[in-house]
Amino acid sequence: MTKIERLGVVGGGQMGGGIAEVGARAGLDVVVCEVNEDAATAGRARLSKSLDRAVQNGKLTEADRDAALERLRFTTSLSDLADRSMVIEAIAEDEQLKTKLFADLDEVVSDPDAILASNTSSIPIAKLAGATGRPQQVLGVHFFNPVPVLKLVELVPSLLTSEETVERAAAFATEQLGKETIRAKDRSGFVVNALLVPYLLSAIRMVEGGFASAEDVDKGMVLGCAHPMGPLRLSDLVGLDTLKAIADSMFEEYGDPNYAAPPLLRRMVDAGLKGKKSGKGFYDYN
Ligand code: 3HC
Repeated sequence: MTKIERLGVVGGGQMGGGIAEVGARAGLDVVVCEVNEDAATAGRARLSKSLDRAVQNGKLTEADRDAALERLRFTTSLSDLADRSMVIEAIAEDEQLKTKLFADLDEVVSDPDAILASNTSSIPIAKLAGATGRPQQVLGVHFFNPVPVLKLVELVPSLLTSEETVERAAAFATEQLGKETIRAKDRSGFVVNALLVPYLLSAIRMVEGGFASAEDVDKGMVLGCAHPMGPLRLSDLVGLDTLKAIADSMFEEYGDPNYAAPPLLRRMVDAGLKGKKSGKGFYDYN
């Protein structure tokens, strides 16, 4: 099976940046495509900081950090992904934007064997595959935040994905990136978010209804259930806009009120309170 040597990532935010970092640390040549120069500069700075943190923690030598940075290139032009053997899309959870991007990637990526993957949490892979002329090479490859720390990758074939593509993506995630994989069907939320999102939304409803403070809900789950962080802090980490977008997709898919985004979450997103990335959510990060 041909190894992935040239990785492309579209979107250099929390998830895309994390995927690019893991790829570069694994020795891949990585090109990250961002919407504009400011986003590319910010993405590169975030990634550099994360690599510095790994050096400080003794996880990476300075020489390996420098080599990883050498292997990473940021661009604002999608055509710079032409020679990639795999492209992972990690842009906002917006079906229209993603569908258009997959159509564009199909035009741009010249390797006929290249895999076009999405890090979506909830948008049907079949819809993204349908925008391309190579649906057998399109699948979901879903990472978890923070990507350098969390071991899991969900692999999500659509009804049209070939077994060879799934096996190649599995080998890429496990043998090349050192992750563990699980397989899920192409249904909104896959395995992890289908379980996690209703829990996060319930915690938000608890705060919204005045049953307990965000701090106490989180303390309850950290000290009572040994979770590494409580649901409100985790919602802030995921991003409240992202959480709302995932909830909306899942509600549309299943029509189950457990997946409906509570008004408090909607209003926070309307107000620009997106969690850690915007400096404020249920907690203040400034
Ligand atoms: N990038 C790289 N490394 C990071 C990091 C980041 N953003 N954040 C933390 N780390 C590393 C630290 O350097 C540290 O490494 P060390 O063990 O070598 O010292 C280690 O992770 C632990 O970090 P800290 O000591 O600073 O803090 P914590 O022990 O509180 O851990 C955490 C932080 C790793 C974020 C932990 O709280 C955690 O795992 N939380 C749960 C995260 C989670 O559930 N994520 C899934 C979200 S759902 C998702 O992503 C799907 C999407 O579709 C919504």
